[in-house]
Amino acid sequence: MMKSIINEAQNVVEIISFLLFMLSEIFVIILIYGILLYVNWKMTLLLTLFLIINIALLKFTVSPKVKQAGQERAKFQERFYDILASTFGNFKIIKLKTNDKEILQKFQNASLGYVRSNIKNQTLIHFPRLFLEAIGFSLIAIIVIYLVLKYQTDIRAVLPLLSVFILGLYRLMPSINRILSSYNEILFRLEALHIVHNELIYEPEDLGNEKIEFERQICLEDVWFEYVESKPILKNVNFKINKGERVGIVGESGSGKSTLVDIIAGLYRPSRGRIFIDDVELSEKNVKSWRRKIGYIPQSIYLFDGTVAENVAFGEIIDEERVKKALQKANILDFLEKNFEGIYTQVGEGGIKLSGGQKQRIAIARALYSDPEVLILDEATSALDTETETKIMEEIYKLAEYKTLIVVAHRISTLQNCKKIVEVTQGQINVYNSFDAYIQ
Ligand SMILES: Nc1ncnc2c1ncn2[C@@H]1O[C@H](COP(=O)(O)OP(=O)(O)OP(=O)(O)O)[C@@H](O)[C@H]1O
Ligand SMILES: [Mg+2]
Repeated sequence: MMKSIINEAQNVVEIISFLLFMLSEIFVIILIYGILLYVNWKMTLLLTLFLIINIALLKFTVSPKVKQAGQERAKFQERFYDILASTFGNFKIIKLKTNDKEILQKFQNASLGYVRSNIKNQTLIHFPRLFLEAIGFSLIAIIVIYLVLKYQTDIRAVLPLLSVFILGLYRLMPSINRILSSYNEILFRLEALHIVHNELIYEPEDLGNEKIEFERQICLEDVWFEYVESKPILKNVNFKINKGERVGIVGESGSGKSTLVDIIAGLYRPSRGRIFIDDVELSEKNVKSWRRKIGYIPQSIYLFDGTVAENVAFGEIIDEERVKKALQKANILDFLEKNFEGIYTQVGEGGIKLSGGQKQRIAIARALYSDPEVLILDEATSALDTETETKIMEEIYKLAEYKTLIVVAHRISTLQNCKKIVEVTQGQINVYNSFDAYIQ
């Protein structure tokens, strides 16, 4: 997707500009051609025939090669980006496996392929110009020789005609040339058009602005969900979450806990069944308003390269006091102020300068920052030691007194304060109405 946005979109822009370029040259050709026809149609038609043969020759020899080079370019460039993304994301594993040579080799192959397709294109693209220039000047030479031989005695009489044709060809040739090379440039980039088109035919969510109120309960009614058709991850899920309730979600890895909270958060739409907020069904019209009420700490956290404050506010205006408060609740403000530059500490790309647990705490602060009505924690404290976890959870339970809290956790102790435990097993759920009931 990054490649599509950065490169392919640019290529499509170039396709459009080459098309316009071609169009303008076509007007020039029509005009000059009309004049030549008017001056001497026989000679013009003869000339046309000759040119068409040559252009057709070029089209069938050079153009397919250019198109192929274009497809190769797209292929190699994609591989190029893939390798970059996967290596920088996994560099520790690569070092441990000590297979950097193979990866370097793969990278070299991809970039070499990309370079070769560009070389091929750059070479071929000049060929029609040189070829047509040669043809054009030979033509002029032939015309001159022919006229001189025919009108040996009175060459002066044919000089005007000769001038018109030479001038005409002089302007016509570059135009034909530009059309041909624009055509080839378009062919070289045509793959980009397919790629961008494929991205554009996805229907984006068209979400309405209807308000939704959450005063009483969230209700899931016969909810089914499948990522892959006819392989349901969740089957016939029914349960209610009351406002202000603390709900724990447990289950084996891969049982569908994250999927379930994603559905509750309005990130995924159930394949079947409905979700009600109070008595209003969650739909495209009101899901935006629902999402705004939710603070979500996902299982995999991504911090972007910037300061802690920017990461916590995440696109909103930075309110220093609120940022500090959120960080304090997440039990990390003291640490940042003691060891770094407080809320203006740089976290590095992906939060590389912080430990796993520190990243989680910043993510918690991020979720708390906008003071959401519903707080969802998906394994939000899994990287913390028990002591820090207890501290943060206490803080969260305290501040969630008036909030609805949904906590996914593997460590059962995290859920001690939950009033309701939802267990996900093999796509179905069991609801326990107290922590003790679940333990038994
Ligand atoms: N985007 C996706 N496309 C296809 N299948 C997916 C996708 N995301 C998850 N799954 C599948 O859905 C199932 C449930 O995934 P989910 O992430 O909800 O599990 P989980 O209970 O949160 O597990 P964990 O405790 O390991 O986080 C898994 O078997 C997984 O293979
Ligand atoms: Mg999960």
